Amino acid sequence: MNETIKTLLNRRSIRSYTPEQLKDDDLQIILKTGKFAPSAMNQQSWHFTVVQNKEILQRINQVIRAIFLKSGNAHFEEMAKADTFHVFYNAPTLIIVSGDEKAIAPQCDCALAMGNLFLAASSLGIGSCWIHALTQLDTTPEGTKLISDLGIPSGNKIFASGAFGYAASETPTPAPRKDNAVNII
Ligand SMILES: Cc1cc2nc3c(=O)[nH]c(=O)nc-3n(C[C@H](O)[C@H](O)[C@H](O)COP(=O)(O)O)c2cc1C
Repeated sequence: MNETIKTLLNRRSIRSYTPEQLKDDDLQIILKTGKFAPSAMNQQSWHFTVVQNKEILQRINQVIRAIFLKSGNAHFEEMAKADTFHVFYNAPTLIIVSGDEKAIAPQCDCALAMGNLFLAASSLGIGSCWIHALTQLDTTPEGTKLISDLGIPSGNKIFASGAFGYAASETPTPAPRKDNAVNII
């Protein structure tokens, strides 16, 4: 089995991180792989926003917490009430991938780019996890202001975001995969 296949099979979502920050060289190569993802008509509709500032990370968590508390979803409300609530598991780096809403397929472009970031990170021994809640930032005035303060280009929508950092515990065993998901004709 070659190293690429091993990385594809061994990457897992990590939900517990050490405070150690990514090395800048690693961050740069991870971001480069995102830019080399396929995109519809090569529009590269993505924009990558990397957040490592602790105060801003905390602010993002608080805005998401407020969204969860008012979500009307009992599961999310319970999560947000916990003192330890941290939507991206205290990861030291958050990468938000926003896409130009006028592009052909920005959601697909951004998801493929995020997939590359995850796999590149995994190949470097860096953990990651998709954090979906950030796609809801634009549903409240506080979240909309945050999007603007983060410098996310106007006309872009957040389609993907991911936590990145070093795993604080052992890589989890893979969640079971469905065995009826393939039909070869
Ligand atoms: C679109 C999408 C949204 C997800 N949202 C979250 C999330 O908000 N929080 C989280 O902890 N994991 C999230 N995940 C991670 C999945 O739970 C995880 O990929 C899945 O359970 C399989 O586990 P694995 O990544 O370790 O193979 C998300 C994954 C995807 C693709």
